[in-house]
Amino acid sequence: MHAHTGVGLCPDAPVDSDADPSPEPHDMPDLPDMEGYLPTTSFRSRRSALSNAQRETWERLWPELGMLALPRAPHAQPLDTRAWFGREAPVVLEVGSGSGTSTLAMAQAEPGIDVIAVEVYKRGLAQLLCAIDTAKINNIRLIRGNAVDVLDNMIAPASLSGVRVFFPDPWPKARHHKRRFLQPATIALIADRLLPGGVLHAATDHPGYAEHIAAVGDAEPGLVRAGVGTESLPISVRRPTTKYETKAQEAGSAVTELIWRRR
Ligand SMILES: C[S@@+](CC[C@H](N)C(=O)[O-])C[C@H]1O[C@@H](n2cnc3c(N)ncnc32)[C@H](O)[C@@H]1O
Repeated sequence: MHAHTGVGLCPDAPVDSDADPSPEPHDMPDLPDMEGYLPTTSFRSRRSALSNAQRETWERLWPELGMLALPRAPHAQPLDTRAWFGREAPVVLEVGSGSGTSTLAMAQAEPGIDVIAVEVYKRGLAQLLCAIDTAKINNIRLIRGNAVDVLDNMIAPASLSGVRVFFPDPWPKARHHKRRFLQPATIALIADRLLPGGVLHAATDHPGYAEHIAAVGDAEPGLVRAGVGTESLPISVRRPTTKYETKAQEAGSAVTELIWRRR
């Protein structure tokens, strides 16, 4: 399967490359660099200026298709995915969907599966909203915020058919390894949110991170390596080739696919 990145078909040039001119009331601020004084996060601060077309699409579609990640709250109920999608279907959560190239292509390829894209980067989510608008598909919803909060506070145990983590930021410097998204605690959380047989599918072009993910995933007692092509899985593990991946391949980096299923 091949696809091009920049899936949003709205013109991509921001109105103002330095600032997001009019944050909506339901918007979250651009995230500051938290290193040093707030909990370590796996994402960087990035400006999120939208083009006029992206802003128009955001204002029209976000209230229906998007929501912000919720902080932990006593007595909070998990997200009612059935009500949000308007149907009962297997649900896949994609962590760090970027501009949504894989999200869109995989949701189009599997119309019977509902996909939740989680991303902190507003322009990436806006690109995906534009692509959803153009493609007229109804099986993607978006959450803006930290995927750890989403998994922890919004997703019920044993409720997901799949979790996808494609090209998570590798944080190559040793002193930054603690920022990597796929750590023992997050993999345990993912395993807990998967249904028995549910799939964790990760892909990375960074050899060191690939080794780390393999070791941590194999050490998680709730997961077992999936036999791709030899056993039936509840979701597809065919990914499109994104622009990010093409650049990595051109730079000589091999891509490692890591796939487990919940015991
Ligand atoms: C290297 S990009 C890959 C994007 C996309 N998956 C792809 O394959 O093109 C990693 C993305 O993960 C997002 N990200 C990192 N940590 C995250 C987190 N904890 N929650 C949500 N998104 C996160 C970043 O904002 C970034 O867009």
